[in-house]
Amino acid sequence: MERRNRLLVATLAVIAAALLSACDQAPRRSGLRFLIGFSQANLTEPWRIEMTEEVKAEAARYSDMKIIYTDAADSTSRQIDDVHRLMDYGIDLMIISPTDSHELTPVVREVYSKIPVIVLDRAVEGYDYSLFIGPDNERLGREGGGVITDLLKNRPGTVLEIQGRSGSPPTLLRSQGLREVLAKHPNIRIVDAIVADWLRDTAEDKVAEQIKVIPDLDVIFAQNDAMAFGAWKAARVAGRQGIKIIGIDGLPGPTGGIELVRKGILSATFTCPTGGKEALIYARDLLFHKEGIPKKIFLRPIKVTPEVLDQSQGVLPYPDRKALPMGRRILLGFAQVGSESEWRVANTKSIKSAAAKAGIDLLFEDGKQRQENEIAAIRSFIRKKVDVIAFSPIVESGWDEVLREAKGAGIPVIMTDRTVDLKDDSLWLSFMGSDFVEEGRRAARWLVEKIRTAAPVDIVELQGTIDSSPAIERTIGFTEILKAYPNFQIIASESGDFTRDQGYEVMKKILERESRKIDALFAHNDDMALGAIQAMEEAGLKPGKNVMIVSIDAAHGAFKAMIDGKLNCTVECNPLLGPQLMKAIKDYETGKDLPLRMITAEGVFPAETARTYLARREY
Ligand code: AHR
Repeated sequence: MERRNRLLVATLAVIAAALLSACDQAPRRSGLRFLIGFSQANLTEPWRIEMTEEVKAEAARYSDMKIIYTDAADSTSRQIDDVHRLMDYGIDLMIISPTDSHELTPVVREVYSKIPVIVLDRAVEGYDYSLFIGPDNERLGREGGGVITDLLKNRPGTVLEIQGRSGSPPTLLRSQGLREVLAKHPNIRIVDAIVADWLRDTAEDKVAEQIKVIPDLDVIFAQNDAMAFGAWKAARVAGRQGIKIIGIDGLPGPTGGIELVRKGILSATFTCPTGGKEALIYARDLLFHKEGIPKKIFLRPIKVTPEVLDQSQGVLPYPDRKALPMGRRILLGFAQVGSESEWRVANTKSIKSAAAKAGIDLLFEDGKQRQENEIAAIRSFIRKKVDVIAFSPIVESGWDEVLREAKGAGIPVIMTDRTVDLKDDSLWLSFMGSDFVEEGRRAARWLVEKIRTAAPVDIVELQGTIDSSPAIERTIGFTEILKAYPNFQIIASESGDFTRDQGYEVMKKILERESRKIDALFAHNDDMALGAIQAMEEAGLKPGKNVMIVSIDAAHGAFKAMIDGKLNCTVECNPLLGPQLMKAIKDYETGKDLPLRMITAEGVFPAETARTYLARREY
């Protein structure tokens, strides 16, 4: 690092720390409605300085609240002290960006038992917080992989990866995303991975050493722009100008990633929203007890390349953003999958009643379990010039054309419940729904915990609709956990299309042909589990007793079956997405950017808890 720059960074850090400690005093509360504590992990990374600046800029808009800022200087013990000090000040809500996910988990849990907590950027373990806001790190890694394959244009190539702090979730997830994409291109090889702790100088020093032993290097993919810049300097000193360098962060300003792309130092970067602004917006929503607040929010990254900068003179948010009509009632077109399950019926009811409550006019179409019906419904919404389209895609593939038509007509599209598999993410604005992979994991965790045996366990899996995102992702989550328990084997896996009838039919056939004893059933929804229970009883089995059954949804039918002793556990998949959807539409109407993905809060309900919860369940 040049001496002059080092001096500048050090001076800026001292000024920032001084500014913060000036705010970091016991606050006066008089005349203030809310006191918010913001515990920042460090103020040495430019990305974190930007995060704090965003919080400050958003806070400046409100005169009824005060923020107390603390800087943990990357020390976990210091951050734990900061949190306790903020609590002693009597704050109403805490925003925390943890230094270390694992170490900060207990202290965040303690705060959450008293006041709302928003966790920024690095998640803590478990779900004991009000809201998580962060970048979609796996996606950033995948997008980085996509740029590498584009740059290499199908030629074989070598990649050096530069990682952030070892073991931290963004490091692991970005790396995982990158590897997932490159695994599909066997002619592209990751030759090495260097850990540089997110720091420019460390990256520069380590790349300077490493580059000597890698004679042919095509691409360096750094997990942030600071490290990408350090790598570029090392490559330049070594006379290796031909190497393409990619970073992440895309910060504005003279030393930010966007400028590095403009100057040709980086071939690409990705904006990695800090979430500072959103944290303040949602803090107010939480403090005002607004309805429809998700559990997790992932912000949209935007790819920045020289071509993007040439075309737009800057980085644009979601393309073709169109303001919704202020003052006039919003017209929403909603295309539903069908009414295949208790879950779906509750979901429809939630959408309809929330629209009425929010004063949003709703055109509702039932796709009756057919993709072509949903596509026709979306086309009719386009013809009727609705303001927003929302839909729950029955399957993942086959939506490109109709979504391009919606984009062409300037109508924003929000996906609820299920996702699509598209290369062009600019065709949709936002997704809200469940984490289906996690639901699958939860089902598997419950099963291995419940059965706890080293003996073979033969499992039947009843999958949802083929090519639907819940069916694909629940299987991924379930099998991921079972990998660690080789005695748990899935002996049959078939689709029951999320219906009770199909659950019955498919289970009946499996029982007729299967000579092995079935120890457990994993059904991708409650309805199929109920159908399968009937088939098992007809075959003389005792479901819930000699066959352990875990299903997904946590609808009333499952609770009743648990009370009857026929089902052992249901994993929640929350269908009550109506309030969240209407809030998102209204937020968009008032000029707010919507997150890329919003994930709902969900739980697990073993049979022992069924009686307690049944009366409280809304669906
Ligand atoms: O997409 C959510 C799934 O669809 C629910 O788990 C299932 O019951 C429904 O049909």
